[in-house]
Amino acid sequence: MTEKLALHGGPKSVPSQRPLTLYKLARGVSRSLDLMRMLPLTARGVTSINDGTGIVGRFEQGMCQLTGRRHALAMNSGTASLHSAYFAVGVGPGTEVIVPAYTWHASATPVIQCGAVPVFCEVDAETLTIDVDDVERRITERTRAICVVHIWGNPGPMDRLRELADRHGLAIIEDCSHAHGASFKDTPIGAWGEVGCFSLQGSKVVEGGEAGVAVTDDPVLYDRMCLLGHNVMVKRGQRADTFADFGDVSLGVKYRPHPAAMYLAHASLSRLAKRNLRAARTWKWLCEEVADCPAIRPVGQHPGAVRGGYYAYVFEYTGEQHGSAGTEAFVEAVKAEGAPLDLDQFRGRLLHTLPVFASLDRRELGGGCYDPTRPWEENLATGSLPVSEGLADRLVRFPVHLYAMPESYVRGCGRALVKAFEGLAGADSGQEQDAIASAAPAGA
Ligand SMILES: Cc1ncc(COP(=O)(O)O)c(C=O)c1O
Repeated sequence: MTEKLALHGGPKSVPSQRPLTLYKLARGVSRSLDLMRMLPLTARGVTSINDGTGIVGRFEQGMCQLTGRRHALAMNSGTASLHSAYFAVGVGPGTEVIVPAYTWHASATPVIQCGAVPVFCEVDAETLTIDVDDVERRITERTRAICVVHIWGNPGPMDRLRELADRHGLAIIEDCSHAHGASFKDTPIGAWGEVGCFSLQGSKVVEGGEAGVAVTDDPVLYDRMCLLGHNVMVKRGQRADTFADFGDVSLGVKYRPHPAAMYLAHASLSRLAKRNLRAARTWKWLCEEVADCPAIRPVGQHPGAVRGGYYAYVFEYTGEQHGSAGTEAFVEAVKAEGAPLDLDQFRGRLLHTLPVFASLDRRELGGGCYDPTRPWEENLATGSLPVSEGLADRLVRFPVHLYAMPESYVRGCGRALVKAFEGLAGADSGQEQDAIASAAPAGA
């Protein structure tokens, strides 16, 4: 007998939100303490660091340790790190970058900023990470780079992608914004591509409020990233002779981070390993709770992938195929149970459908942002991506903070999924059963 849904006046699967309130309080306190470490600096009148020393250098060193890369360059956003990476590998007019359509727009907007064309590709339905076969179909003589997004903390198939990129002489830019501390086949993410880029924006697992960082092994790519957005740092580059003519002048954008952001990011980086362990345990509890439910599939991972960052806990919901309600009604029923479920963030917002990529005449805006070497129509995204489009309507997610909740709360969230599916199915199937019973011949 299915328990009555909270939506219909039954008991909630997650009766108390006290753990959430306590978490918010504790997070506020720990952030404030992290920021207080900057006070000695401000007391000396220092609020800007322009040469990568002090807390900036310490944070960059921490990122080198996390990813095993030789160089890290801190910036003021993840978007800035992606722009710098694309610029560094030579993305510009006449080139293309293949990017999954299922991601945040900042994986692709820096491509148009470089005057190149983003070409959108599918993700694989099982893991939501880049579909390597589809990437291969989209490679042309213009392709310069592939952007792989380790979406929701789930690493992409890096061995296959690396082999493909090497075979075609292409660069890989890893967007690691959701996946701090993840790895694939024992190599940290961020260390598979030419450049690994991380957002450190306030909702991320390593967070500086607004900040980002790029990592690479290649000193020339490092120098080129300095050249784009780090005046002063240009002359401190790894191969300062490369850009001797620039002195300490960069190319006109300024991507240097604020030291306050670096204090926050450095402190949260030091807590990352512990946090990822807790997040892995949270994911395991949720998966156990839904294991027997035919309509709720935890998003899978590639063999050898170890999740990190856990920017969300994502499930594919196929209730309608199993006689229950659609995704929106399902999410409402789960929320009523006290569990913080949401629709997919990219539902209705896949990149190939966004006006900025698909229809807006960017030529009229000034400031570049399109490839002038090609007919205008070739700058626009066309066509459909049926796998990604279908998926986005079926995905649901629990938020990043679930890692900090106690087991009873997390398991309650998992139970809420199953209860909502069964309860919403029960509403219809009860009537169906009655109809079947009354239509069945006696003695059947
Ligand atoms: C996948 C992905 N890439 C890039 C970014 C951009 O990062 P930022 O907001 O720090 O510029 C985000 C931000 O949420 C993101 O989710």
